[in-house]
Order: sequence, then structure tokens, then C-alpha cells
Amino acid sequence: MTVFRIRTFGDPVLRQKLREVDPTEADLPTLVQNLAETMYDAPGVGLAANQIGVLKQIFVYDDGEGEGFKAYMNPVLEEGEGEVIEEEGCLSVGGIQAPVKRYERVKIRVTNMDGEEEVLEAEGLLARILQHEMDHLNGMTILDRLDDDIKRQVISEFHEKEGLV
Ligand code: NI
Repeated sequence: MTVFRIRTFGDPVLRQKLREVDPTEADLPTLVQNLAETMYDAPGVGLAANQIGVLKQIFVYDDGEGEGFKAYMNPVLEEGEGEVIEEEGCLSVGGIQAPVKRYERVKIRVTNMDGEEEVLEAEGLLARILQHEMDHLNGMTILDRLDDDIKRQVISEFHEKEGLV
């Protein structure tokens, strides 16, 4: 198991729409362990494969409910209801918090690590995490969900944090 460097804003892997995963792919258990270890090391509550440079539709999360981490692949949004704006951060954008509008409740079809389909029904923090990770798999980050002026602020704060300006 390995802690990977988390790719950050500006890296083209974060802009790619990732390919669907075949659950029998031999490298998936190792990939998931590496994702989980990198997420906990950061620390964060979720991590998508492209954040460590792997272009597959798979992500891990731990919403702090004491069940450890979970890993799913090939998510599809089936239903989204309500709207809620809350502060949200991303490890690829320096963890800087910004208000992001999300569905309040979601139903998301996923494939689990046993290769079975499941429908996850979530609200609150978990709904937010799932939508955030799905965005990553579609080549998006929170920056794509922000108003232009807030986006500029977050980017400049990020560059300052990275020591780029
Ligand atoms: Ni993120």
C-alpha cells in the first residue's frame, strides 16, 4: 500500500472523463487500498482515482460513521432532490472551503467491489461526498460549481498556498 501525491488544480488528469471499470480488473483491490490510504493520510473524506492519476471511474470515501471506508465504481445519478448550499473543500484544490450547491438527497446507482449493483440513497454529508466524487469522475472539481468571483478567490488562495505567486 502506498500514499500517493494528490494531483492538484491545473493537472490535466482532473479534467478527464474517466473510463468505466470492469469489476474483475485485477488491480482494483490494490488501487482501492492506495486510494483509502492516501485519503486518510491527507486527511480527507473522499478520493477519486484520477486524484492519484488513475483514469478509472472508482472512488473511496469515509463519512465518519464508524464503518471505515467504502469503495464504489461506475456511479450514475438516478435521482436528485432539493438543494443545499454548504461549504465544501477538495484535496485537489488545497482543501480551501467554498460554498457549493448540491442536491440535498440523491439516489446513485453504483457497482460495489464484489461486482454487484447497488443503489445508494443518501442525504446530508454523504450525499455531498457522493456528488463531489462523481464530479471528479466526470472531470470536474468544485471550481466548476462556483460563481466566477468566488472561483477566482479560491484559485488565488490556492496558488498562494502552493507558493506559486
Ligand atoms: Ni475533491
